[in-house]
Amino acid sequence: MDGNGRWALARGLPRVAGHRAGVETVGRVVEAASAAGVGILTLFAFSSDNWRRPREEVQALMRLLADYLQRETGRSVANGVRIETIGRRDRLDAELRAAIERAESATASGTRLRLRIAVDYSGRDAILAAARRVANLSRESLEDALGPPVDLLIRTGGERRLSDFLLWECAYAELIFSRRMWPDFGAEDLLGAVREFRGRDRRFGAVPPTAVRRQEAWLD
Ligand code: FPP
Repeated sequence: MDGNGRWALARGLPRVAGHRAGVETVGRVVEAASAAGVGILTLFAFSSDNWRRPREEVQALMRLLADYLQRETGRSVANGVRIETIGRRDRLDAELRAAIERAESATASGTRLRLRIAVDYSGRDAILAAARRVANLSRESLEDALGPPVDLLIRTGGERRLSDFLLWECAYAELIFSRRMWPDFGAEDLLGAVREFRGRDRRFGAVPPTAVRRQEAWLD
């Protein structure tokens, strides 16, 4: 969800205004993802490194998150959206923690879209924590402890980094980088990315069957 700050500064507004506009985009994207048949949508709302931002910006982000959860829980239940968060909870304030718990339990039976919001999240810390939790460390047990693999990662705002997001889960993710600032990102952009993803050739390290057939013909 990159570009909120730049979007606001370009309009002579404080960065927080960009985050507020970013919440509007969250609404549009959740609706569009659900309509497009996306099963799981994970939004990177606050990284563990974002604590380094000015105190006022951090507080504003926490407030926006709590307000979003309080406001959207009812609508999510009605639309079959299951809300979850990933990341550390122990450093969040009590009000946000309570809003997360309420949203998670109220929406737990939603089956249309699983909306995961990453808050105080670090991919490296998530891998460490999962490795500490599992009894017998293996690729499979770690995968179970972490969460579903990512098929498509969209990064807005022209950035081309992973920034500690779902590092293990992105092993075979298709990457799409959009120059749009997050507040300008719309349903059409999401659908365009999904279309591009569907057109990609995902080989997971293997070779396409046609190439195997070509090689076999050559060996004959
Ligand atoms: C990145 O843009 C955006 C964030 C770090 C915060 C995103 C959070 C929200 C929109 C708040 C609420 C979230 C939900 C899911 C309801 P940036 O500030 O790094 O912008 P820049 O790259 O232009 O500086």
